Amino acid sequence: MTDAAVPLDAGERLGTGELRELQLERLRASLRHAYEHVPFYRESFDKAGVRPEDCRTLADLARFPFTTKADLRANYPYGMFAVPRERIRRLHASSGTTGQPTVVGYTDRDLSVWADLVARSLRAAGSRPGDVVHVAYGYGLFTGGLGAHYGAERLGCTVVPASGGMTARQVRLILDLEPSVIMVTPSYMLTLLDEFERQGVDPRGTSLRVGVFGAEPWTEPMRREIEERFAIDAVDIYGLSEVMGPGVAQECAETKDGLHVWEDHFYPEIVDPVTGEVLPEGERGELVFTSLTKEAMPVVRYRTRDLTRLLPGTARVFRRMEKISGRSDDMVILRGVNLFPTQIEEIVLRTPGVAPHFQLRLTREGRLDALTVRAEARPDAPPEVRDAAARSIVAAVKDGIGVSVRAEIVEPESLERSVGKIRRIVDLRPRGDG
Ligand code: DLL
Repeated sequence: MTDAAVPLDAGERLGTGELRELQLERLRASLRHAYEHVPFYRESFDKAGVRPEDCRTLADLARFPFTTKADLRANYPYGMFAVPRERIRRLHASSGTTGQPTVVGYTDRDLSVWADLVARSLRAAGSRPGDVVHVAYGYGLFTGGLGAHYGAERLGCTVVPASGGMTARQVRLILDLEPSVIMVTPSYMLTLLDEFERQGVDPRGTSLRVGVFGAEPWTEPMRREIEERFAIDAVDIYGLSEVMGPGVAQECAETKDGLHVWEDHFYPEIVDPVTGEVLPEGERGELVFTSLTKEAMPVVRYRTRDLTRLLPGTARVFRRMEKISGRSDDMVILRGVNLFPTQIEEIVLRTPGVAPHFQLRLTREGRLDALTVRAEARPDAPPEVRDAAARSIVAAVKDGIGVSVRAEIVEPESLERSVGKIRRIVDLRPRGDG
């Protein structure tokens, strides 16, 4: 159901037929742009024996080769750009924690489209011009802070560029400046929750009414936890630097039923992560994006490694993606069973006496990997509740996922807190012995 009060922009008002026509037109232009201006794409298309003009229908996109993170690394820093460096107005970069960093670039027009799409996302989240928006995504090379910032300005909001960290000051700013909207990772929102409580301030009593959470996977039980403890609406925002940054897809406040992909700018496909085969609508697999309007750094069939499925549009004409269940890189294979941190999150959050803070420790015992779920006790949980909680986590993982793990309930506030994207897996296995 569309909230009649939400003003839609021209892209959001397209009919399905018009949208598919626009996508095809933009897709063909984008493939041509990539082929003509980026040697990497010229080579990879030539090698696959396809030309931009071979794309006559949206389904023809499947004939084009994929682009991976490794391709971006191999062309570091400027090799993927399709415009002269002088036309690049801004650079962002990935943190490079998993290897060589990757750089992405934006023209003036790219930055403007980005601001429009974050403004559209914020509107879908329930924000309106005139709102005070507290941005606690990190500012800098990470796309979260600046991406959110310019989108909120574009919508006509008053932006508080808090960035990440200095948690006590964040609380102070929220109390003094009275934002109605906060943009932050869900894990850092929990860190803020602790700080409100430490300062003796009721988190339900603040001016906040909407939280726009993303940059890491989070689950429905986490949504309920945050909504209840802060008395806000919590909605999901998705994006990645290679494709743009935050604002590639957004959940609507009125439906909270998955994220509408802003399909007039990004064409999504779901492929089998192993074979690369395009999967039929509704099946789960790896999300792949082709940019439709990017000038500086067009991407063709970029493999995100994020796992989800596509569903028909509801509050908007655009298709939805289900909340991301995990990244293929974060999947733990434990004695042949695949396990994602989000599955553990769901279990931990429904276990009485346990706080929403947990960590997964991977160790090696003899030749076998072992996993310990370490979760924090709620401050008021007595010892017998803690013991029962540990047993119940072990049983729920065994029943639900089909593998044996250990569970340890640790003291309140003993696990490391997030200031941005949280790291759930602590891998203590010896390296290099397979
Ligand atoms: O995290 C962009 C962003 C900033 C999105 C702020 C939302 C809010 P990267 O640092 O390039 O960009 O990381 C992208 O983060 O491929 C996903 O694995 C993960 N991710 C981003 N949003 C979500 C989400 C930003 N809503 C990578 N749910 C992506 C699950 C997400 N995972």
